[in-house]
Amino acid sequence: MIRRIGVLVSGRGSNLKALVEAIADGRLNAEIGVVISDRADAPALEYARQHKLPTEVSEFPTQGLMPARRRAQDHQILKLLSKHPSVDVLVLAGYRRILSPVLIDGFRDPRGYTRIVNIHPSLLPAFPGLGSYQAAFDYGVRVSGVTVHLVENDVDSGPILAQQAFSLEGLETALAVEAKGLEIEHSLYAETLEWFLAGEFDLEQRAGRLCVRPR
Ligand code: GRF
Repeated sequence: MIRRIGVLVSGRGSNLKALVEAIADGRLNAEIGVVISDRADAPALEYARQHKLPTEVSEFPTQGLMPARRRAQDHQILKLLSKHPSVDVLVLAGYRRILSPVLIDGFRDPRGYTRIVNIHPSLLPAFPGLGSYQAAFDYGVRVSGVTVHLVENDVDSGPILAQQAFSLEGLETALAVEAKGLEIEHSLYAETLEWFLAGEFDLEQRAGRLCVRPR
């Protein structure tokens, strides 16, 4: 069975490219139903067009901290999604907006978790938010990594699907840390989505938190 994903992007699009390549070479059994960008000039959008993927743009004024604007944008995204065959899972690939409950609850599975996946450039819960490779480098940690997780209402807080650590020894700049991290992101995301989309996982409550374990 083909699983359909929708991809939300804002920028460079290296994770989108990695997913397209993983689908092409059979590591990820999925099809991309639509790529939605919140920026008309995002290189990720251009990449999607070049690869003949359906695309949509949801340009909104800066959200700032205004929940009403977030909700309005997410309603627009749901509307854009409805123009395409329905997607099983939303994949955030460098999407820089904070999601509102409109989208999060719109993709909530009856079993309680959301079918929205994000990739974050640190070992969460360390270094949430933006600029995490730089933050890890500046802090002087010896080990950092990459996290693939489900999206919840609190930013960067949802159930963790997968993590991969790497050593910062010998990495002399934040850019070198980022390059190492991105290399991991590009394989970890497809690998994780493959088992998540196949439903090959169990749910477990630990101290009031939903945890997801691959089988
Ligand atoms: C990646 O580092 C990802 O972990 C983070 O944003 C960056 C997006 O990069 N969420 P790209 O647009 O996929 O190249």
